Amino acid sequence: MYFCGLMTIIGTDIQQAKIFLEQGNVVGIPTETVYGLAGNAFDIEAVTKIFEVKNRPTFDPLIVHTDSIERLSEFVQFIPEKALLLAQKFMPGPLTMLLPKHPSIPDLVTSGLDTVAVRIPNHPLTLELLRSLAFPLAAPSANPFGYISPTSAQHVAKQLGEKIPYILDGGECQIGLESTIIGFENEEVIVYRKGGLAIEEIEKVVGKVRVNSHSSSNPKAPGMLKSHYSPRKDLLIFRGEILEENKNKIGYLAFQKYNPELPRENQLILSESGDYKEAAKYLFAYMRQLDGMDIDKIYVELLPEKDLGRAINDRLKRAAVKA
Ligand code: TXA
Ligand code: MG
Repeated sequence: MYFCGLMTIIGTDIQQAKIFLEQGNVVGIPTETVYGLAGNAFDIEAVTKIFEVKNRPTFDPLIVHTDSIERLSEFVQFIPEKALLLAQKFMPGPLTMLLPKHPSIPDLVTSGLDTVAVRIPNHPLTLELLRSLAFPLAAPSANPFGYISPTSAQHVAKQLGEKIPYILDGGECQIGLESTIIGFENEEVIVYRKGGLAIEEIEKVVGKVRVNSHSSSNPKAPGMLKSHYSPRKDLLIFRGEILEENKNKIGYLAFQKYNPELPRENQLILSESGDYKEAAKYLFAYMRQLDGMDIDKIYVELLPEKDLGRAINDRLKRAAVKA
């Protein structure tokens, strides 16, 4: 049975979150990337609740979160050399690694795969919570399956509020994009999801990587479906012109400048100074905001294909694909 029908509590009480998690409940947790929907990764019932609350198919595996590189050995078989180098440099941080799974992790968590996705989130409240627990936390992003990821406790409450007893409020997410997911094959590092850690940063540590984040044909990442991160309204990529006649019903997500063809009140700017980090931080919140406006369609601008612009464009293109 899971919590149902009452409003969730939003608070900063780590002890309270710990008690709910120890009872096998699921709790909203802050991270620097996006909010997670967390449960005991060793407990099949808690993991089942995560899938139910999110309405997520069980073929889409979950990331397991812990607080230190040392504790990874509780649920991975071994850490390849390049993985250790990257872990030392970027963990805690917006990086998830696919590593050989230890039998302590139930198959449900990994959808039967022999790798487990691991991450050490960089948020003081969640790190303290993880340190206080005897188990790691399985946590997908705390949004209903297919919708935009939440970057504040209020986003989580709005969408999953009646289904979970507690949301640990850590303020707005500082990075705003999900973690970058990488795996290791022989000596090669492979990127499966572009995210909050720029590929350029990873390459500074381990040299050239292979980027393989194309969803549907990618058995390594069954959950990276094409139609993802979607707002409810139609979202189109701006290719130089607005085709609709009634310009008053068009919303616009710009990188640096307003589109002079459209009314300003329907437009949001990601970063006037062209800062990729700032753009990433506001991307999902602005997509939500546009989704709530009195408009029919949303046009979005793509960013230059470098730095975090690559992950931002990836999310925008996935959101633009209709199921
Ligand atoms: O930033 C993040 O990564 C956030 C925060 C909460 O940590 N979490 C997150 O989880 O984005 P989620 O479940 O929304 O996305 C995880 C992705 C899914 O697309 C899933 O398919 C993939 O990771 N994944 C998980 N385990 C995997 C595995 N063993 N092999 C391949 N892909 C895996
Ligand atoms: Mg997600």
